[in-house]
Amino acid sequence: MLKVEANFQLGSLNTLKLECIAECYAHVSTTGELREALSEARQRSANINVLGGGSNLILNRYLPGMTIHMGLQGRELLEESADDVVVRFQAGEEWHETVLWANAEGYFGLENLALIPGSVGAAPVQNIGAYGVEIAQLIECVHVVDSRNGDIRGLTAAECCFSYRNSLFKTSEGKHLIISAVDLRLSKRPVVNTSYPALREAVPHDAATPSDVLTAVVAVRQSKLPDPSVEANVGSFFKNPIVDRVTAEHLKGDYPDMPQYPVDANTVKLSAAWMIDQLGWRGVEELGVSVSEKHALVVINKSARYASEVIEFTDKITSSVSERYSVSLDREPEFVGSG
Ligand code: EPU
Repeated sequence: MLKVEANFQLGSLNTLKLECIAECYAHVSTTGELREALSEARQRSANINVLGGGSNLILNRYLPGMTIHMGLQGRELLEESADDVVVRFQAGEEWHETVLWANAEGYFGLENLALIPGSVGAAPVQNIGAYGVEIAQLIECVHVVDSRNGDIRGLTAAECCFSYRNSLFKTSEGKHLIISAVDLRLSKRPVVNTSYPALREAVPHDAATPSDVLTAVVAVRQSKLPDPSVEANVGSFFKNPIVDRVTAEHLKGDYPDMPQYPVDANTVKLSAAWMIDQLGWRGVEELGVSVSEKHALVVINKSARYASEVIEFTDKITSSVSERYSVSLDREPEFVGSG
């Protein structure tokens, strides 16, 4: 029998450690419980929020509706050939545990995505990516439950409309789709991707194995990014802005050291961390919120209780980047709830 709790405190279930009261909360550990929670929400005409690892959320003080805490666990080998496998991972599995398990089984491709906080079900939503790999490249199928009617469907990678830190699940057409499991195609042949400069430096030799890459990614992340279990944070607070080529060329003229990464023939990705760092924000603390000393893209909650403090402080960063570089920064985590 599904347990639904009223006025549930989510402070310990989000890595920014913000206080937030959920109007209704249910932890689900089976697909049956998930559909039960959805049907309960429909009866109450309540909107639905899905909570995974809480590592990509800025929670405002009050979260109206039904918050479903995704606890579906399990992994299942669906297909195996000489070259690769397809494995189904349930949405509540912890992401880093999944990366470690796959590598230990000899199923390769996830190593560059090691140590990303969060759950399997959250990974496709923002198309997690690091060190030259995005999860979109490995997705065979994303299984969803439609919160409007409980219908179950499987979506191909193309149907998920993945792009940089974005997918169908962030849009109005996909908001009602709750991810219950993800099928990944992983290689049985050792594949390594050390194209990202920071990783190439950490894995210098040509005979590197996937395990070497995994070890290096963990070491690079531990040296460059604060650990959310020690300092409350949500990883990158801003997306790297994508601008047109002409704008990028003007900026390069004014700021020759500015890192730029071509996306395609017409657009260029800029480094939000570099701009924030140049403006002197690294290490600055206001309202109990600070920019990490380790990485200028990471915002740390030192002692703030509510999202309003985080938003007030980070809006100042956005304004200063806009004034100096005429570039607008978008938040990377999702800001939900009411104030
Ligand atoms: N930089 C600075 N100051 C800093 C940090 C970085 O000037 O404090 C400069 C670096 O020197 C480098 C550039 O910024 O030239 C890029 O830095 P980095 O390699 O750390 O990557 P990023 O673009 O800042 C992105 C992802 C990270 C991911 C890394 C590695 C986004 C929003 N962030 O960061 O993802 O780990 O690349 O692939 O795309 C996350 O999403 O939470 C996350 C941590």
